[in-house]
Amino acid sequence: MYDPARDTWQESPPRPSSLPKKPNLDAEEEKAVDSKNGSKNESKSGTPVSSRAPSEVPSIRDSSADGSFSRKQENGGETDKYAVRQHYNSRPNNSTQERKKSTIFGVRSFNNFVKSLLIDMYSRPHDVALDLGCGKGGDLLKWLKAGIDGLIGVDIADISIEHAKDRFAHMRSKCFWVDFCVGDPFLDRLEDIVHPDAFPVDVVSCQFAFHYAFETEERLRNALANISRVLKRGGKFIGTIPDSEQLVRNLKLGKKQWGNSIYRISFEEANPTGTFETLWGNRYMFHLTEAVEDVPEYVVPFEGFVKLAQEYNLKLERHQTFMKFFHQAVRDRDVKKVAEDSKILNRDGTFAIGEEQLEACAVYAVFAFEKV
Ligand SMILES: C[S@@+](CC[C@H](N)C(=O)[O-])C[C@H]1O[C@@H](n2cnc3c(N)ncnc32)[C@H](O)[C@@H]1O
Repeated sequence: MYDPARDTWQESPPRPSSLPKKPNLDAEEEKAVDSKNGSKNESKSGTPVSSRAPSEVPSIRDSSADGSFSRKQENGGETDKYAVRQHYNSRPNNSTQERKKSTIFGVRSFNNFVKSLLIDMYSRPHDVALDLGCGKGGDLLKWLKAGIDGLIGVDIADISIEHAKDRFAHMRSKCFWVDFCVGDPFLDRLEDIVHPDAFPVDVVSCQFAFHYAFETEERLRNALANISRVLKRGGKFIGTIPDSEQLVRNLKLGKKQWGNSIYRISFEEANPTGTFETLWGNRYMFHLTEAVEDVPEYVVPFEGFVKLAQEYNLKLERHQTFMKFFHQAVRDRDVKKVAEDSKILNRDGTFAIGEEQLEACAVYAVFAFEKV
């Protein structure tokens, strides 16, 4: 239950009920999950999906006692938020077959592999998870494999949320409940977006989205305050973000734009010192062929992020580039065969993904914090 005096959550919430509708699923992926989970999936009932329309989401409140929520500044980063939302809303919901034909099939496979590993490492069976920037629900099957009991997904893109609901409705194995909501968890209180009974959660995941919180100080602090408040003590905050060290290395080489035929990063101005005056607002445009069309993103200066996160009782546990994380997992965990089956590695251990696609994957890093 929510304790307003302490602005925190004390007990596990009741599980929302739900109602699946029409189908739409990644049949092959689901088959794989079905065979892996065996009869476990059949034993639990399917779950309904609930959501709120954007108009029902209350506006931000006045500052809270700890000052972590301030009233929205004029021009408080609204411009980019709408551009980002419009962009993701306009992305087509491609079928598995279409995705397989994509020129960035390798990038998608690699990214999905990394996310699966991260989710597997930092969640436990029966957890309740919160996915911030959940998009079209592309991680639903990863959560299913992790054996969680409940998933709350939040995204500013309302059409993406409709796709996510649809995707869940089409899943054959529904052994956890879901609650997909439209809202901006980097600006508004999560309790104003999601039914408060859903909190606290065991794990917060933010995949390829937390860099959007670095637009302004207000967003960043609100995002961290939200995450810290709804996470149980000992709970994990995991995610994938562009690797700031790589961005800085390129800036220091005097480049203001770089990439290849698959991806492109463009800063407005050169910054050969590679330093940033503030932790937020360091904007660049990102392009990933067939996926992201010159969308504004923000540098996540990692050291500063870790220091600020400490103020919100979030302690760093892991920070690795995608490549380091992947190689360590192949070495230490029994996942080489899975990487081969996912067409990431060849049998001889070399990459089955082309060099330019690999370079696009290498832009990213994983992180994991623990709520202390
Ligand atoms: C690159 S997509 C990643 C989607 C999903 N997490 C995945 O890994 O497939 C980024 C997502 O972040 C969402 N997003 C961007 N800014 C957001 C914000 N302020 N609040 C919630 N979601 C946001 C976008 O709408 C989009 O769905």
